Amino acid sequence: MDLNTSAWWLNSIGYIIYPETFFDSNGDGVGDLNGILSKLDYLRDLGVNLLWICPIFQSPMDDNGYDVSDYGAINPRFGTMKDFDNLLAEAHKRGIRILLDFVLNHTSDQHAWFQKALQDPSSPERKFYFFRKGKIVDGKILPPNNWKGFFASSAWEQVPGTDDFYLHIFSKHMPDVDWSNPTLREEYFKIANYYLDKGVDGFRLDAVAHLAKDLSFSDSALKTDTSGYVLDTSKFSNRPELFDYLQEFKNRCLQGRNVLTVGEVGGNISPEEALKICDRSYGSINLAFNFDTVWNNGNYGSIGKKDEDIKTDVLLLKRNFMRWYNADHEKADMPLYWCNHDHPRVVSQYGSVKYRNESAKMLITTLLFLYGTPFIYYGDEIGMSNVQFAKPEQFFSDKATESGVAEWRKSGFTDEQIVAFLNRAARLNARTPMQWDDTKNAGFSKADNLIILANPNYVEGVNVQKEMENPYSILNFFQFAINKRRDAVINDIVSYGPLELIDPNHPDVFAYLHPGSQKLMVISNFRSFDVFFTFYYEIADVMLHNYGDVKIVNHIFQLRPFESYLIRIR
Ligand code: NOJ
Repeated sequence: MDLNTSAWWLNSIGYIIYPETFFDSNGDGVGDLNGILSKLDYLRDLGVNLLWICPIFQSPMDDNGYDVSDYGAINPRFGTMKDFDNLLAEAHKRGIRILLDFVLNHTSDQHAWFQKALQDPSSPERKFYFFRKGKIVDGKILPPNNWKGFFASSAWEQVPGTDDFYLHIFSKHMPDVDWSNPTLREEYFKIANYYLDKGVDGFRLDAVAHLAKDLSFSDSALKTDTSGYVLDTSKFSNRPELFDYLQEFKNRCLQGRNVLTVGEVGGNISPEEALKICDRSYGSINLAFNFDTVWNNGNYGSIGKKDEDIKTDVLLLKRNFMRWYNADHEKADMPLYWCNHDHPRVVSQYGSVKYRNESAKMLITTLLFLYGTPFIYYGDEIGMSNVQFAKPEQFFSDKATESGVAEWRKSGFTDEQIVAFLNRAARLNARTPMQWDDTKNAGFSKADNLIILANPNYVEGVNVQKEMENPYSILNFFQFAINKRRDAVINDIVSYGPLELIDPNHPDVFAYLHPGSQKLMVISNFRSFDVFFTFYYEIADVMLHNYGDVKIVNHIFQLRPFESYLIRIR
């Protein structure tokens, strides 16, 4: 199979759905599969043709579905397997493909495998997980090593009444599975093949970077925190065996099927190393989702800082994009995205609520014409932005945030500092209900007492219905821009042609050119103030623009706040 010609994802515009808060069709307060079904026409009209739906499997929802208790069943909150089959068929009828979010680094502690492993230490399931003895120090039992997890302090949890601990790099209710065990791998291949045989178009592979661990379980040599633990991702990220596991996954499940696999590889992999996973000729999966272009404004971990200290580092953003482009062009395909359900809303992160309309349009213009398959996060098409809560507790429907807050309080941060940080950076910001109209709950659900409340700005016009009525809205701009991006000629230029930065050292403007026979250029101002940009080309056509008039005098563009162009030049 020649991926250059048959890689359908190069003609695709992805759209990420967090099912819990997308649309509630039965009024129980939770978004569901039939809710997504009822919005398929909206999505088709928007122009997207590839959905990544966050996990929908049976789950106690300790981590919002990323804790799977049964891969063979749909979470009843979201519907039934019949609903899923129907959604898949109806999406396909509309030319929309579906990727399932496949969680294969860990299960829920409620999964039958883990329950068996707990009950019977001699069962085969015990070897599906990492159980190790604790260390006795000064008569006290301590975890087997000093590893810290992403959600909690120690990455180990003691099994009550024993000296055994199990590894969990995320929540303690999400024990890691042992991919070095061939029987475990076999179980995952069966699950993948079950859904692929059903006709799903591929997977987003959750936390895939972490499948291989340092099996010596030796202490990290990095400096530990005051509790004696340290988050040393090298102990469980992108380790050599990962590449073998993924090759086996490809051979057992993907080979011969024209499906897309998108792996979450995290922030610690270099583009060159990522080619071991996603190179077209010898890789195992298609796209490596990294986080290098996600937090280029110092927002990540910025607790204690003031909002005014958070400023997009445009140079870094460009450099990071180009690092991946230079490694991948002509060798591998790339995903493009500003955010997902784990990050704050992009308008609040790289854009501006004050300039919602301008910045949302600028951000989509910049993203769409870069090299790669764009993924839009639901709600970005109407400029949804971060919440403004008053108390840390309002963020606690996300357990990861809850444990973070406990640690920050222990470290002496005030609630005021914590709230300011969470309003800026918490992932709950991206999980509020989709804003469909200005009725109760933004038209997302008829229920009272939602777990995650809608951002109140839905009554101020930030909703689909209002956006549809306005010809100059963000939504209409997205639709127009996506349509342009899907144009066959433009798609060829963007997907196969070269790309170069223009004025790479400009600190405020992200400008790039496709220098092929039809020359396409994007010029975007990432600032909330006017900036100047020298331009020596002749404009043939302004194809996208988020202001009403063009300001260019003597080869100098005056770019107003978040002004952005897609132009064809001669
Ligand atoms: C990455 C997912 O995107 C995130 O939401 C989740 O908490 C972790 N993986 C654990 O599955």
